[in-house]
Amino acid sequence: MSITGIKGMNDILPGEVETWQFLEEQARKIFGAYGFSEIRVPVVEKTELFCRSIGETTDIVEKEMYTFDDKSSNSLTLRPEGTAPVMRSFIQNRLHTKDPVAKLYYMGAMFRYERPQKGRYRQFHQVGAEVIGVEDPKIDAQILTMLVHYFDAVGISDVTLQLNSLGCPECRPAYRSALIAFLEARLDSLCDDCRRRYQKNPLRVLDCKSTGCKEATVDAPSVLDNLCEGCDTHFGKVRSHLGRLGTPYEINARMVRGLDYYTKTTFEMVTDSLGSQNAVAAGGRYDGLIKDLGGPALPGIGFAMGMERLVLMKNEERIEPAKPALFIAGLGEAASDYAFELMVKLQRKGIHVEMDYEGKSLKSQLRRADKFGSRRVLIIGEEELASQKAPLRNMEDGSQETLPLQEIEDMLLDLSKRDSS
Ligand code: HAM
Repeated sequence: MSITGIKGMNDILPGEVETWQFLEEQARKIFGAYGFSEIRVPVVEKTELFCRSIGETTDIVEKEMYTFDDKSSNSLTLRPEGTAPVMRSFIQNRLHTKDPVAKLYYMGAMFRYERPQKGRYRQFHQVGAEVIGVEDPKIDAQILTMLVHYFDAVGISDVTLQLNSLGCPECRPAYRSALIAFLEARLDSLCDDCRRRYQKNPLRVLDCKSTGCKEATVDAPSVLDNLCEGCDTHFGKVRSHLGRLGTPYEINARMVRGLDYYTKTTFEMVTDSLGSQNAVAAGGRYDGLIKDLGGPALPGIGFAMGMERLVLMKNEERIEPAKPALFIAGLGEAASDYAFELMVKLQRKGIHVEMDYEGKSLKSQLRRADKFGSRRVLIIGEEELASQKAPLRNMEDGSQETLPLQEIEDMLLDLSKRDSS
């Protein structure tokens, strides 16, 4: 029996990969314009890094990590997200000593042992961005504007930016207690899961999908009414900057994030078009994380986009694979050798050229050219070799011109420059 891949971990095949490349190129271009540089970190880290940053009681750490011992009995984990590894690298490489502000982006595979379904996988890809060292709410507004700009640029319009603030260590404990007291009075209406977890993680109840929990928490105290003065002012300024920049958003005071490191501003880019996996990007501020991980006391903010979800949303308008500028049909052995050498010569000059390797009939070679969607076909047989002239057929308009073989290279270089301009 042949060996299959792992459940929830997908191949990205030619024909699909073009959409990925487009989304990644646009991210590089747009994030670059906002001053971000790429950082690449390993896919495996010490398990402790994720326990300490994401939080011991989160679903990710409790249930979803791919954790294993290496041959020296070190506990390692395939990264379930990118923020913690980037912060680990920032601290370890003392990047703050080079520049007090770091703007970093990353792209790559993440791993979570979740139940696979549409838009939710065990290996998935994130493109993320993080800013370290800026407390000013301007940066919150800037990073949110960059996210909205990105979605506009890639042509995904069916999304809404939802905004919340989760407060800070000063105001959150009081809000938590108020929420626990509120839930305690309604325990009978909560689902079993929420009854079990409401003390440990009361915010999670606000996110529960069960009708009972939804109804019971309609009038739950709002985090936004319980912010301390500092958090309230910060949030007000983020909103005012977003307003001035014309960046559209909605407030969602019930937004709960599945990672513990967030403070103040949190956000999600949501869509109605992907069923229950409705977050296509998410993030927020994490002003205590770098210090908690043993680094300097610097604030941070960032987001990550779930690329599989973006690809699903882009699928209606598939991006076509590149078509060859030329297909060379060689008839007979000498012409086929000539075609082969000409093809490689042109490929070395960066022109996409294809041919048939099997010495088939002209008819079947033309069929192959058609399958490639080649824009031109050059037909070379014995006669053409003898006369040193060959017909070049334009497959788009059906026209044909006969060219001296010597000039063909220059002409094709010229034509392909025109094609790509
Ligand atoms: P997150 O909300 O866990 O945040 O993930 C961010 C995005 O990754 C989600 O909105 C979703 O689009 C995608 N995603 C998550 N899990 C899966 C999955 N199993 N399959 C497919 N896509 C998935 C973070 O990871 C934070 N590190 C974001 C951040 C960066 N916060 C600050 N900086």
